Amino acid sequence: MKTMSLRGRDFLAETDFTREEIESVLAVAERLKMERAMGVYHDQILRSKTLFMLFYNQSLRTRNSFEAGMTQLGGHAHFLDPSKIYTPALEGKEVAYSTERVSDVARVLSRMGDAIAIRCYGDPVEWEYGGAHALLREFAKWSDIPVLNMEDDIYHPFQGLADMLTVKENFGGFKGVNFTMSWAYSPSIHKPRAVPQSAILYATMLGCNVTLAHPPEMALDPKIIAQCEAYAGAAGGSFRITHDFEDGVRGAHAVYPKAWCPVNIFQPPVGDYDVETSQAIFDQYKSWKMTEALMETADKQAIYMHCLPADRAYEVSNYVMDKTEGPGWRSAIFDEAENRLHVQKAVMSLVM
Ligand code: CP
Repeated sequence: MKTMSLRGRDFLAETDFTREEIESVLAVAERLKMERAMGVYHDQILRSKTLFMLFYNQSLRTRNSFEAGMTQLGGHAHFLDPSKIYTPALEGKEVAYSTERVSDVARVLSRMGDAIAIRCYGDPVEWEYGGAHALLREFAKWSDIPVLNMEDDIYHPFQGLADMLTVKENFGGFKGVNFTMSWAYSPSIHKPRAVPQSAILYATMLGCNVTLAHPPEMALDPKIIAQCEAYAGAAGGSFRITHDFEDGVRGAHAVYPKAWCPVNIFQPPVGDYDVETSQAIFDQYKSWKMTEALMETADKQAIYMHCLPADRAYEVSNYVMDKTEGPGWRSAIFDEAENRLHVQKAVMSLVM
């Protein structure tokens, strides 16, 4: 395990890492999780270290798992609301006395702490696809300490790690696991696509048989799709796209139905359509909802997955979300949420 190669590294996108490095992170996460269950303390690992957490968007799981994780590792997580500091802005996007250039913020925080974690997508970058990822890369360019991606508009790499740990725990590994990432209906048309993109990147990288199911209008980033095809070829798994929800779910071991929005449905000037047109396109697909009957067509031991929050009654029935035990398929959503803590502790232990 070449863990030392991760020291000082940014964690911005899964594509920045090799399969071996991601497998190392998952191995460390499993160990930290098991040891915590045994009552082992990890408070010497990042003793006295500080993580700055900059949230341009809301969060329940990400904020609390990073904060709890830093406490457990012996350090401190410092919450920063961009509107309560001088909002970090890219060169050319500055507003006098209410913003501060990213290059300056990154260099200041680098003098005081040990890592900077950032969440940014959507409104703060006017839904320009890739704009938030560019902001994180700019932070990383100027920062002397690791920069961690708590979700941008392309990647949600820690959610993806938690998803893969959940798959590994349930199926013992990735080879032969049928992993289906599917679009599901939500009345909200402004849904980021980082979660599905990170999930299919990791799942193909690690060797699953991956199916991506979505209505024709809901395509993901073609560069991500090309990367998934390359990963599947290298890892000996497979990757396919279907526009039939039932076909995507049939025989799957892990089923992950979630709403997302393709670029051309974003509001102008970024997308092609106005809000009413976009809503009409979404509303054609109300039948893309995960139900008990549909879960019965998956593998008998299948798990239902979701990053949360889920749109109950739209993306998925309450019954599917809440069936966390009993015979047959089950919902793994709370394991998945807990695993955010363990994978983030692993990455922070390795890079900070
Ligand atoms: N899954 C996830 O990132 O949740 P939060 O938006 O609550 O952080």
